[in-house]
Amino acid sequence: MLAFASADITKVSIETLIVPVCADKEIHTDRAIVAILKRATKLKEFSGAKDEEIIFYKPIGIEVNRVVFLGLGKSDEVDPEALRAMAGKAAKRCIQMKLGAVHFMVPASQKIKLDPALILEALMEGICLGNHMFDKYLEEKKQKPLNKAYLLVAADTAKKYGRLPARVEAVCAGTALARDWVSMPPNDKRPEQFANLILSQARKVKLTARIMHEKEMKQKGFGALLAVGAGSQSRPRMVVIEYKSKGARKTIAFVGKGVTFDSGGINLKPSTSMDDMKMDMSGAAAVAATLITIAKLKPRMHVIGAVPIVENMPSGSASRPGDIIKSFSGKSIEIGNTDAEGRLILVDAMAYVARKYKPHTLIDLATLTGACVVALGEKIAGVFSGDDELAEAIVASGKKTHERCWRMPLPQDYKEQLKSNVADIKNVGGKYAGSITAAQFLAEFVGDTPWVHIDTGGTSWSEREQGCLVKGATGVPVRTLINLVLSLAK
Ligand code: BES
Ligand code: ZN
Ligand code: ZN
Repeated sequence: MLAFASADITKVSIETLIVPVCADKEIHTDRAIVAILKRATKLKEFSGAKDEEIIFYKPIGIEVNRVVFLGLGKSDEVDPEALRAMAGKAAKRCIQMKLGAVHFMVPASQKIKLDPALILEALMEGICLGNHMFDKYLEEKKQKPLNKAYLLVAADTAKKYGRLPARVEAVCAGTALARDWVSMPPNDKRPEQFANLILSQARKVKLTARIMHEKEMKQKGFGALLAVGAGSQSRPRMVVIEYKSKGARKTIAFVGKGVTFDSGGINLKPSTSMDDMKMDMSGAAAVAATLITIAKLKPRMHVIGAVPIVENMPSGSASRPGDIIKSFSGKSIEIGNTDAEGRLILVDAMAYVARKYKPHTLIDLATLTGACVVALGEKIAGVFSGDDELAEAIVASGKKTHERCWRMPLPQDYKEQLKSNVADIKNVGGKYAGSITAAQFLAEFVGDTPWVHIDTGGTSWSEREQGCLVKGATGVPVRTLINLVLSLAK
């Protein structure tokens, strides 16, 4: 979909050209474009303010049918995310206009004081991410995604960054895959189905992947995971994916919460809180999509992905508050609340992965607590870890991708809330600091393995279209995880 083009717009005919513009400064060096833009600003109909738009049809001086000027705002506020968001909005706008192929004019790096690689990457990501739609369930597809986007650059730039388009497309395809899974209705991704969907995608890219069935989980003693799945007619699964690379010295393992629908179980959620609970498998989607992308990018690193998959339902066979279960680690857990199910499936998967693969780093991802959504909102994920270096690496990776993360504390004395009178530990704490006590519950099961927990909270789902995000599933934080693996592999 993405490509470089090195055309002279005064000579070669182009259908649509998107030109980002700053309010306070010229950011292009192309004389023909600068001349047309001057005409627009002279009319005082366009200033380059953020999100402003003006379209010129067949302007004199260039061979372009339609020039869309898009405002970026003040030039000193232009960072990669501003470019990504602008490109994402541009892609959505082009889809609305029913365009098939578009050209983008790239701001001159010396004018906006950003590295050319960062500019190109951000623009390409924005285009790909904004171009995504989930229309599988519509009888009539009203809109079509763009089929081609060209970035206009000099021939030597195109040569220098020749591999970038394919890399960005692979990364964004990972985000799109996670989005598609999260958007899927819960009746089509019940545990057996979701596990099969992951397996078939993993095999396509030649990953070693297998599905663990209930029988094996019983034999292995995944008591916590099985307890959560007990209420559903669709039986639990666990998918384990392995990416191996020659010469790799380190193993990184990801574990993702895969609750295909969270009704709360016997501690049934109120109706409105259940609305989006098909997205409670976004951690699993992110982990699987990350591994599938890693298999295409081939970094020098061993990567494991484990996704426990269950449906949390109330029924005669469901687990009850008060039940005591035995986890894979050997610890007994008192179920204080069946709606705190994510941590139960995660600890069995995490303890298993830690024991079997002995990873150097273990990262779990989960839409774990409503408390994290309350604390950090819809756009920021919570990072919990006792390991400063690891926590900082994740926050830094999220900064680069603009999938924002914020480190939260793990105060030892809050752990007391998880004490049970009858079992080794209880799956819920008190009224306050719910995302912290949830993380502390997980910490009890990882032993000495360096570990980070990412509570993706509200970030997996967006109520609004914004920047390069579409309404609905966000595919966050797939790009952050990929970026992390690539940077650790260097
Ligand atoms: N999946 C939810 C957490 C959640 C809620 C994530 C809303 C994103 C948006 C989780 O399984 C849950 O229900 N957690 C409970 C825990 C409580 C019972 C201790 C919560 O947060 O209310
Ligand atoms: Zn729940
Ligand atoms: Zn849940």
